[in-house]
Amino acid sequence: MTAPTATAPDEAQPDGGGAAGDGTPAADDAFDRDVLPSPPGATGALLRSLLTPVKARVALTTFLLLLQQAAVQAGPLLVAYAIDHAVPALRADDHGPLIALGAGYLLCSLAAGGLQYAFIATAARVSQDVLLDLRGRIFRHAQALSVDFHERYTSGRLISRSTTDVESLRELLDEGLQELVTVILSFVYIAALLLWLDLGLGGVAVASFVPLYALVRLYQRRAGRAYRQRSTAIAAVIVKFVETMNGIRPVRAFRREAANDADFAVLNRRHERANGDALLEMARYVVGSRLVANAAVAGIVLWGAYRVADGTLALGVLAAAVLYLRRLYDPIDRLGMFLNSYQSAAASLEKIAGLLAQTPSVQEPAAPKELPPLESEHPGREVVFDSVRFAYRTGGEVLPRFDLTIPAGQTVAVVGSTGAGKSTLAKLLARFYDPSDGRVLLDGTDLRDLAVPELRRGVVMVTQEAFLFSGTVAENIAIGRPEATREEIERAAKAIGAHDFIASLPDGYDTDVRKRGGRISAGQRQLVAFARALLADPAVLILDEATSSLDVPGERAVQRAMATVLKGRTAVVIAHRLSTVEIADRVLVMEHGRIVEDGSPDELTAGTGRFAELHRAWRDSLA
Ligand SMILES: Nc1ncnc2c1ncn2[C@@H]1O[C@H](COP(=O)(O)OP(=O)(O)OP(=O)(O)O)[C@@H](O)[C@H]1O
Ligand SMILES: [Mg+2]
Repeated sequence: MTAPTATAPDEAQPDGGGAAGDGTPAADDAFDRDVLPSPPGATGALLRSLLTPVKARVALTTFLLLLQQAAVQAGPLLVAYAIDHAVPALRADDHGPLIALGAGYLLCSLAAGGLQYAFIATAARVSQDVLLDLRGRIFRHAQALSVDFHERYTSGRLISRSTTDVESLRELLDEGLQELVTVILSFVYIAALLLWLDLGLGGVAVASFVPLYALVRLYQRRAGRAYRQRSTAIAAVIVKFVETMNGIRPVRAFRREAANDADFAVLNRRHERANGDALLEMARYVVGSRLVANAAVAGIVLWGAYRVADGTLALGVLAAAVLYLRRLYDPIDRLGMFLNSYQSAAASLEKIAGLLAQTPSVQEPAAPKELPPLESEHPGREVVFDSVRFAYRTGGEVLPRFDLTIPAGQTVAVVGSTGAGKSTLAKLLARFYDPSDGRVLLDGTDLRDLAVPELRRGVVMVTQEAFLFSGTVAENIAIGRPEATREEIERAAKAIGAHDFIASLPDGYDTDVRKRGGRISAGQRQLVAFARALLADPAVLILDEATSSLDVPGERAVQRAMATVLKGRTAVVIAHRLSTVEIADRVLVMEHGRIVEDGSPDELTAGTGRFAELHRAWRDSLA
């Protein structure tokens, strides 16, 4: 591990992330990991769990649709009666049957319209509820998943899950599904009516379903493949987009634009090709099914005409049969389209199910334990690393059997060369990860047994990123303790030396950090993050390179403030700058995941070890 490859001064570099926009050809990787492994039947289970709460309304929409289709399909039947019975009656000067049939036709049309309206309205509400539920679930679940998941899955892929994939499900629910069910239902009605009108004609029509069904299945299989490819391809496009824009500073700094353009063009073209394949499948299907349908109609009309001529079939029945056949075959090419949206929704749902099937590797305890209450003059807690071993999922062992005891209230500075495992130590203490073996104890309690609120009160980590959320400066500080009053927020900012710059912002504490004039420097961001941590008032505070963005006077001011902030608290301070070390009670020097030196700053400086060497070099550089 060498120094980070890309560091614009203002860049928030996520830990361990090298892929953010630095142009690594991670595209194929993104392809591979797009569908997460999920237990068999996860997709079906997800669908069921989404539909269960709206069960009653699904039943109602189905019922409305059944009635509506009955009203719609009555039409040609009434026409047949008109031709075969009402017209002869009319010849005998009897207007009754025709008027009755006309009124019936009108009534059916009105009923069909009204029912369709009711059906669309209820179906729309069902689909909105389902989508609302699903979006919420994706967000909650993704947020609950552990840090290591996010390091591997990337935000681009998550964005594509909750946008493109939810959108394709929306298309299915709002448009495709209604049409699909309507088509299937009308098939059933029409087939039954045709068979009832005339067994022979109906038989031919039903027989034509066999090749049509084969075509549909073939199309489904081939288009399904194309759709899966398409949705994976669009996800890769989004991932590339998000990564590049997240890393826009290193992209600029290293003039990666042209290389990124080329990478993006490849992905974009892959998406285009997958899309083209899907459309081609569609075209084949439409042509094939039309051919079958037209052949069936031609056959039936021909045969029907002969039978009308020799008197074995009533003219009205033939007319009704032809009307029904049109209705039967008309939606066939649309059926392909509905199957499209069904296919892509199924592919999307599969991916969403895969995401939702992930369990956080850092689990909440089944039986959470409380920490003993703090003594008021002792806000710190004891930290123990008990035979901890740790390896990231994607790498070798970073901490080989690590033992460390930090008494309550001690400030420990951790130094060591890059990649030594300092941040890993901090992340284990903040429980971003669990040790592969051994335990991390807070006042004797395993971190794994602590309830989330207890852990949040117990340990707070401030990193170099100093991330600010959209909102005001005050809101950003209050993240440390949401119930804090404005006075408490300002007191924290004053203690940390951030008050003056905040007061000079256009709207002071109410300045929106994402708006004009609210853009604050990296160092100022860190001061805000400090104030946030101070407000949270944790028993254990971890600062990971947290002062590295501050200028020298800024750092001095923070160091003074830090001395007050850390007083009595247990603190782990990771710093490259040795000036930070001076406020520590104890210094640990780490190499290759082990502690190689351990002592007070004075002891180590006076010694002959690695720290003394570093310290001398630092002194010389100051002179
Ligand atoms: N998310 C991760 N996934 C896989 N390996 C990681 C991850 N983060 C760190 N590592 C590896 O673990 C080792 C220790 O990393 P760590 O971030 O703890 O070092 P560090 O001492 O904090 O270094 P620095 O001073 O550069 O911040 C390194 O070899 C690194 O490659
Ligand atoms: Mg680090």
